[in-house]
Amino acid sequence: MKNTFYITTPIYYVNDKPHIGHAYTTILADVLARYHREAGQDVFFLTGLDEHGQKVQQAAESRNITPQQHCDEMAPRFLELWEKLHIQYDDFIRTTEPRHVDVVQQVLQKVYDSGDIYMDEYEGLYSVSEERFITEKESESGEFRDITKLKEKNYFFKMGKYQQALLDHIESNPDFIQPKHRKNEILGFLRNPLGDLCISRPKSRLNWGVELPFDADYVTYVWFDALLNYVTAPGYKSDDETFKRWWPANYHLIGKDILTTHAVYWPTMLFSAGLPQPKSIFAHGWWLSGESKMSKSLGNVVNPLDLIDEYGVDPVRYYLMREMVLGQDASFTIDSFIKRYNSDLANDFGNLLSRVSTLITRNFDGNIPELGNPTETDKTIALEGEKTVKLVQGLIQKMRLNDAIEETMQFIRSVNRYMEQQAPWKQVREDKDAAGRTLYTAAEALRISALLLHPVMPSRTQVVLDTLNTRDTSLKWGRLIAGTELVKHESLFPRIDVKKKDKVQESAKEEIPAEPENVVTFDEFQKLKLRTAKVLEAEKVEGADRLLKLQIEVGDSKRQIVAGVAEFYTAESLIGKMIVVVSNLKPAKIRGIESNGMLLAAKKGKQLTLVTIDSDEIGSGADVN
Ligand code: MSP
Repeated sequence: MKNTFYITTPIYYVNDKPHIGHAYTTILADVLARYHREAGQDVFFLTGLDEHGQKVQQAAESRNITPQQHCDEMAPRFLELWEKLHIQYDDFIRTTEPRHVDVVQQVLQKVYDSGDIYMDEYEGLYSVSEERFITEKESESGEFRDITKLKEKNYFFKMGKYQQALLDHIESNPDFIQPKHRKNEILGFLRNPLGDLCISRPKSRLNWGVELPFDADYVTYVWFDALLNYVTAPGYKSDDETFKRWWPANYHLIGKDILTTHAVYWPTMLFSAGLPQPKSIFAHGWWLSGESKMSKSLGNVVNPLDLIDEYGVDPVRYYLMREMVLGQDASFTIDSFIKRYNSDLANDFGNLLSRVSTLITRNFDGNIPELGNPTETDKTIALEGEKTVKLVQGLIQKMRLNDAIEETMQFIRSVNRYMEQQAPWKQVREDKDAAGRTLYTAAEALRISALLLHPVMPSRTQVVLDTLNTRDTSLKWGRLIAGTELVKHESLFPRIDVKKKDKVQESAKEEIPAEPENVVTFDEFQKLKLRTAKVLEAEKVEGADRLLKLQIEVGDSKRQIVAGVAEFYTAESLIGKMIVVVSNLKPAKIRGIESNGMLLAAKKGKQLTLVTIDSDEIGSGADVN
């Protein structure tokens, strides 16, 4: 088995300055790369920049400089942020580098020679903002800007030819597209015939791109160029050993908005070029502030990246990794950041270190005491430590990063409880050996916890290891050497005093509307008509990840509602369900679709479940009071 691990982030557009979207995926890749590196694997972690295309050309034009100058000015901004975030990448690729241009041209020539590229005249609607031809339906969705009609001769890649091969590959490789709901989304997309892909742009319209090797009047479509970065960096040459050492990649990490390009365009390109498929494409959700994507309109909301200067990079990395369930959206608020920081980092982790080091310093001259003959209670902690290591390793393999972190925190909490029970500050007076056993055990638990959290918080966990004066990175229990002198440390995570919240936090507060008076009169409540309803039909709303369009029966009448439940229920699973709706809600248009009522659902954190009626007899249209 290859002991290599190759992980990639998307390459980021340089028309925008780096934001939370870029930072999140890159930290995620860094954390995973570190876990695998620290588990002894040979890791190749790639990130970089997508520098071609219309958006970059326009950004440069508006600044009156050349596109290359624009790219050269933007690249350091990303590099600075990676340094600030402690990103340990192995390669940083820029698509304007000769090594990449060369690979794009080689692959294009190969695909062309094999007959998979042809020229055709095409007339259709073109979205300048998205840089691609769009369908009639898409143009009506309101999600595309700058739409013009274009008639043009272009080169097309025979993507449709590989539809069946792609379906077969997805079927026989269950982990190819993760998480599962994203795989189902792609399978749904592939139920319709897959068209061919326009892969060129005439230079008369756009010249900032890789020139087609077989026609100097055209440049390559930016996605065909960009996706190939994943094979350029490990040294694309179909028969080269270095290349084969890394390719196929273990993970392409992406955001959910770029799933189709990665899970449809890219695999078909690889089929045509005769290259193996990546092992997994993993799409994460978005960071939201309220309902909107954070990177888009930050407005008055605190940017998580601004918290670094105040609280340090590690707490921000910790928060982003702990708070997002991979695959789902997560919401950023300053309050939840402070809560997590104070409870997990200051109270649980930081406090354990300060207690252990203070007690050892006071009672054992600052030297780690002997374990001696551990009691059953001491051994329970050792066993729990061993169990946590195994659990964390398993969860990382399954990409359940937030759970891996939580398991480690649970372990730290149980060590804190053990300290309370054993009370080594009392034990020293009655039985000094017992106090030594407790403190050795707690110190070793700290070493293991610091190692398990090291990929997430490389700097602060190093403080723990330095305090314990150990360089032993083995996750085997019992490696601390008695007699080792502790080293003085600064406070690991100073508590954030909520009352002394600074200006930034105050302004974030303003975003949250004041709590309304939380009472309604009975008469007011009576105005609401809650009714049972039966779901007759359900379907996804094109271009809206969270919405389902439902046809429901309410007594004798039928009506349509739009509900934001698509992340929790598939359309099929709702058909036949007896739900509860507010039937006299003023009709509204959601994404241009009429919605006549609203269904009720219970929501907690990231979970949502529908309010349903568990008796068939009552039928639809019944009053709910
Ligand atoms: N250049 C393309 C990718 C080409 S890969 C061969 C691109 N660039 S981008 O700069 O727009 O990348 C943005 C990345 O950041 C996407 O993965 C996107 O999902 C992610 N995010 C942007 N905003 C985000 C949030 N608010 N939250 C999390 N990630 C989001 O697309």
